[in-house]
Amino acid sequence: AKKHKVTIIGSGNWGSTIAKMVAESTAEHSDLFERDVQMWVYEEDVQLDEKSKHYKKSSETSQGPQKLTHIINTFHENVKYLPGIALPHNVIANPSLTDSVKDSSILIFNLPHQFILGLCKQLRGHILPYARGISCIKGVNVHESSIGLFSETIGEELGIYCGALSGANIASEVAQEKFSETTVAYDPPPIDSQAPTPATSQGPSPVSSHVDLTQLAHKDVTGRPSKVKLRPLPQEYQAIDHTTIKKLFHRRYFHVRVVSDVAGVSLGGALKNVVAVAAGWVDGLGWGDNAKAAIMRVGLLEMREFGNRFFPHTVNPDTFTVESAGVADLITTCSGGRNHRCAMLSIREGKSIEEIEARELNGQKLQGAMTAHEVNTFLKSQKAEKDFPLLTAVHNILKGNGKAEDLPDLIEPSE
Ligand code: NAD
Ligand code: 13P
Repeated sequence: AKKHKVTIIGSGNWGSTIAKMVAESTAEHSDLFERDVQMWVYEEDVQLDEKSKHYKKSSETSQGPQKLTHIINTFHENVKYLPGIALPHNVIANPSLTDSVKDSSILIFNLPHQFILGLCKQLRGHILPYARGISCIKGVNVHESSIGLFSETIGEELGIYCGALSGANIASEVAQEKFSETTVAYDPPPIDSQAPTPATSQGPSPVSSHVDLTQLAHKDVTGRPSKVKLRPLPQEYQAIDHTTIKKLFHRRYFHVRVVSDVAGVSLGGALKNVVAVAAGWVDGLGWGDNAKAAIMRVGLLEMREFGNRFFPHTVNPDTFTVESAGVADLITTCSGGRNHRCAMLSIREGKSIEEIEARELNGQKLQGAMTAHEVNTFLKSQKAEKDFPLLTAVHNILKGNGKAEDLPDLIEPSE
């Protein structure tokens, strides 16, 4: 059988960690996957620290800043976004987006959510039309009164099926091979395996008019019929099913549960980042564990209600309470996540969360504050702010219309 070639699109803290694990898996399952894993890197110049073990070796040829891709491919370490972690030599950093995805049948999207739409536009016409995707992105795609999941957005932008990976996965811990679990949601619609397979990856429209549309009765996350008309995988490949997905991500230290609830998994990952901002404020105020547990309890209820109300046809409410992508991710992000830490420091120092982000994160990006505003735009459009008091309070406080000290009153349900 033809082997699957895998590309990771994104190389931040989590992108590099996923690349490490996937490259370990492709080396292990050489019957299924090509060994080398492409990792698209948003190129930048990086100055190696004089104390870095790579500095002396590198300074023989260059004293100044060097391309991040060059550093990764030479020293097998992403010194900027995942310092101190050895990457397998079969992770190949590539600064060209279109070259990195060439001939790849599995695309893993792993970027801060604000960049994904622009990237999809650049990718159109350059991917295999029958490729399958997995989105590791935590965020939602809000446009005025509509809300979408990034797996859905990627799928529609590129004309492919895209699932989602999310869980209690603080990247630095996973990268150090400390045990964690994750949830992968993968549920492509059935397609007629006899439909003709396109020969090339050229052309912007991946839709084959020969595909039997009655086979595409799959619904997207909002219950509307999906706009994506999926191309079948050529027969020389092994199917990309739950077993293949598990082989790609599962490690001894990273346990994968594969489910079908793409909406629940994606919403859990997005909304918990907003709750983590409130949890960070409460810790910044020194209010203790009971107060933080109260925030997390209310947050979990609002996450589940959000799914039930706006994704009623597809969300499985149990995902929020049973899967790593729900309650476990909420707990870990409210304890050791970047959103929590920056929110906590912002209260302690009386500075904005953006100032703390710029100072503390060395180019890494917070998702919680932006998601709070995006979710609020959507809730306003639905006249539903009062039903989500915690999500609404986080937005208002970030905008300066309220104080973290008032959270206990603000999250009290309205009569
Ligand atoms: P990051 O915050 O560590 O890094 C930011 C990345 O954005 C870098 O790779 C940088 O090169 C890139 N970038 C900067 N400007 C860009 C531009 N204009 N266009 C494209 N890329 C640009 O990223 P991350 O932690 O890997 O986050 C990716 C996703 O994974 C996010 O949705 C995040 O919520 C999620 N996630 C993160 C963690 C974690 O612990 N870091 C864990 C699970 C999920
Ligand atoms: P932060 O972005 O807040 O660090 O959260 C990471 C995460 O998603 C852990 O699962």
